[in-house]
Amino acid sequence: MGMTSNHTYIQSIRLKEGDLPKEEFPLNIPALRSFSSLYFHPNVTYVIGENGVGKSTLLEGVAVALGFNAEGGTLNFNFSSYDSHSDLHDYLRVARGTTRPKDSFFFRAETFYNVATNIEELDSEGFGPKVIDGFGGESLHKQSHGESFFAAFMHRFSGNGLYILDEPEAALSPTRQLSMLSRIHELVEQGSQFIISTHSPLLMAYPDSKIIELTEEGMEETHLTETDHYRTMEQFFEDRERLLYHLFK
Ligand SMILES: Nc1ncnc2c1ncn2[C@@H]1O[C@H](COP(=O)(O)OP(=O)(O)O)[C@@H](O)[C@H]1O
Ligand SMILES: [Mg+2]
Repeated sequence: MGMTSNHTYIQSIRLKEGDLPKEEFPLNIPALRSFSSLYFHPNVTYVIGENGVGKSTLLEGVAVALGFNAEGGTLNFNFSSYDSHSDLHDYLRVARGTTRPKDSFFFRAETFYNVATNIEELDSEGFGPKVIDGFGGESLHKQSHGESFFAAFMHRFSGNGLYILDEPEAALSPTRQLSMLSRIHELVEQGSQFIISTHSPLLMAYPDSKIIELTEEGMEETHLTETDHYRTMEQFFEDRERLLYHLFK
């Protein structure tokens, strides 16, 4: 590993004090029920856990509290008529670092299509440099979902950035996930901070990082080799026949 940056754009989040609607969504999600605070790693913080445990809700809450559009994009995207799914951002207090990010992106697979549409609309208005040039130049609608996200990640992300990514591996091959990991390393060395929700043990493998697991009991820090994601893959590779036998019997 080379040297790591000490840029921290977001240090922690904590739940505001006072009378909060703990019986309602989103604070009624089991993982959030006992939540009080979460400290982020200066480089990469992973948010992991089973489907439906609250990862997207948490990432959206953080992103919207920081001023991102709930639908994703950079801090400058405010095209949306789209309502945030939850009010979590209203209940969060964000502790920022002393420096501001020069670049930013909130990626959510579900709505990246809308971000792509917004880029085409901005460019068809025709003033100034084309937004799409910053994403590699080729219309994101003419590329596959995985390719278009990958293009943004390789071309548009420029370092000194704060990047919040919700399951970015969704459309990426294992090889591209490894390319993504190496790009994460470059961007970290260029003073970037990431918050990434993922199910991929490949993408989760950045060494100088922190993994937070959401469960029904709350949130807890864990380590790569202790995660279900890693262990399941490990069983598969170590003794596939045995795993399949138990699966099919
Ligand atoms: N707008 C909503 N209103 C009520 N419940 C919701 C809403 N959006 C999500 N949920 C519930 O909150 C839980 C967490 O969802 P989500 O954050 O999307 O999970 P994950 O990203 O970990 O798969 C799920 O049980 C989901 O059904
Ligand atoms: Mg999700």
